[in-house]
Amino acid sequence: MTQAAEIALKGVAKRFGTTEVLPPLDLTFTAGAFTVILGPSGCGKSTLLNLIAGLEAVSGGEIEIGGRKVQDLPPRARGCAMVFQSYALYPHMTAGDNIGYPLKVAGVPRRERMARIAEAARVVGLGDYLARRPSELSGGQRQRVAIARAIVRAPQVMLFDEPLSNLDALLRHETRAELADLHRRIGATTVFVTHDQAEALTLADQIVVMNAGRVEQIGTPADIYHRPATRFVASFIGHPPMSLIAATGDGTWLRLGDGSPLVASAHQGQVLAGVRPEAAVLDGGGAPLVPLHREDLGSHVVQVFRLADGQTVAVQSPAGRPVPAEAGLGIPDGALHLFDAETGIRLVS
Ligand SMILES: Nc1ncnc2c1ncn2[C@@H]1O[C@H](COP(=O)(O)OP(=O)(O)OP(=O)(O)O)[C@@H](O)[C@H]1O
Ligand SMILES: [Mg+2]
Repeated sequence: MTQAAEIALKGVAKRFGTTEVLPPLDLTFTAGAFTVILGPSGCGKSTLLNLIAGLEAVSGGEIEIGGRKVQDLPPRARGCAMVFQSYALYPHMTAGDNIGYPLKVAGVPRRERMARIAEAARVVGLGDYLARRPSELSGGQRQRVAIARAIVRAPQVMLFDEPLSNLDALLRHETRAELADLHRRIGATTVFVTHDQAEALTLADQIVVMNAGRVEQIGTPADIYHRPATRFVASFIGHPPMSLIAATGDGTWLRLGDGSPLVASAHQGQVLAGVRPEAAVLDGGGAPLVPLHREDLGSHVVQVFRLADGQTVAVQSPAGRPVPAEAGLGIPDGALHLFDAETGIRLVS
């Protein structure tokens, strides 16, 4: 086990020229925790990671790793190891030499190097492949060489930038499980960037959801899924995404644009009413639904319906359950998420 270090960002900001990519940001990564930074393409995830690693300079603010200010230190002095989407292995070196390269650069004697290479390779399950060159390894094996190269120095901090996105679906799934296991064994503070919500939900102790350089929500996977703090988080997490229906509350009902009732609620004023497709039911009562299209996904079916005012709602049901002739939208207690229509912020419901 390495000694884990807390990472604290204090007012950290980044501009490229006159473009502000990250407005001043305060963020703490708990020592030893697995934190996933999740957000759409271009929201600033890699930039944030590069600032921690020292591959980009901050435009303002301070970064502390293990209580030490590092924002002016070069990358090698920060105690972070980084794994990228592209494995960036040396093609002419064997897997073993690639893994040991950081130790060689650091002047670690050969005997100790060999022992640490063997241990890192064992941790990622590559013990039998050390003599092969990258061209003789599969994509998943190459990515594991890159991970072994990162852990060989026993870093306090592991930074991952979409390390699985070059792998096919099955290998991604396998490697994801291996990474979770690896984190449990190594215990380094881990920051993992992805735009894949399944990776975030399965790997993270804590998820930071970003949108356009800003943090939308920080929480456990369960918080993020069950209590999304904003409309953005609600629509970004969940597959298929949560339906968000514009409605107006009169104190008894939330009503659709044509005045027809959607669901009982004491809320007044304009809201977005959110319901996850897997929580919505076709109960024959409730707001009338007109079927638009359906996707049969084997184990379940996702159907999109039109509401009385033309808005749409998705409902997921187990395969083989017929749609009632007079379908109505049922929103069970606890399944309704309300967001302010203007600010998109979650309302206490
Ligand atoms: N060197 C640079 N100069 C100018 N703008 C940059 C530079 N690097 C990144 N940007 C801009 O900063 C924003 C954030 O980029 P970043 O690479 O951090 O996004 P990301 O969240 O990692 O996206 P992706 O999921 O596509 O990797 C983008 O709008 C990008 O165009
Ligand atoms: Mg990126």
